Amino acid sequence: MNRLWQYDETIQIGTDYRDQKQVAAYDQRMQKLRDVNAEAKDIQKALSLASDSIVWEIGTGTGECALALAATVEHVYATDVSPTMLEYAHHKAEQRRINNVTFEKGGFLSGFRPRQPVDGVVTQLALHHLPDFWKSRALAGIANCLRPQGRLYLRDVVFPSATDDYDAFFKAVIDEVRLHAGDEIAQQTIQHIKTEFSTLDWILEGMITRSGLKIVEKDSKGFLSVYVCEKEIKV
Ligand SMILES: C[S@@+](CC[C@H](N)C(=O)[O-])C[C@H]1O[C@@H](n2cnc3c(N)ncnc32)[C@H](O)[C@@H]1O
Repeated sequence: MNRLWQYDETIQIGTDYRDQKQVAAYDQRMQKLRDVNAEAKDIQKALSLASDSIVWEIGTGTGECALALAATVEHVYATDVSPTMLEYAHHKAEQRRINNVTFEKGGFLSGFRPRQPVDGVVTQLALHHLPDFWKSRALAGIANCLRPQGRLYLRDVVFPSATDDYDAFFKAVIDEVRLHAGDEIAQQTIQHIKTEFSTLDWILEGMITRSGLKIVEKDSKGFLSVYVCEKEIKV
């Protein structure tokens, strides 16, 4: 359906991930800061993935997570709105001779959709690109693509409602980021708070549960949260 009012999710907020230099720099930063194999293991466990599982990763970026998950599941569909990210990730798959990951252009709201319900959906550091109303549409779309009791692994920047002193909270987060990840990432954290669409935990949790997903695990550190959610069976 052609919805004239639909949010244009191809607009990049914050870093422009259509820019080749930004994409390569992002990949290098992430390689330094993250242990993707450990992340994939956590995801595999949280989503109870098996060798015959079909997974959809939304906002795959440079594809590291999709490629790591591919070693233990049947197939991964990895989508992103940035053609530059997809090209970069696809090149990695070719270099590593991984052929059970399909990279497709598509976002939370439009583009590629798996033909059959999937066992798991993974999305990391991407949902905050959408304003809140559109997050709710994205979550409903994810629930629709999951098989009953299929699971979503959602990791993103989420603001806590347990505090009302956000000046102190953001200062502590930025200081911590500067200490562990350096000045550049601290500057990006400031830009994130200022210009991107991260939301409060209670708003996000309301949107998740109203989409027909049950939160089965939540883990928050600083302002990064992981939600493991399960599609409820309709009776
Ligand atoms: C910060 S990167 C995270 C990439 C990867 N998931 C990771 O954990 O490293 C955000 C990614 O989300 C993508 N993105 C932005 N808006 C999106 C949307 N509406 N649907 C899908 N992906 C989107 C960007 O192009 C970018 O590749």
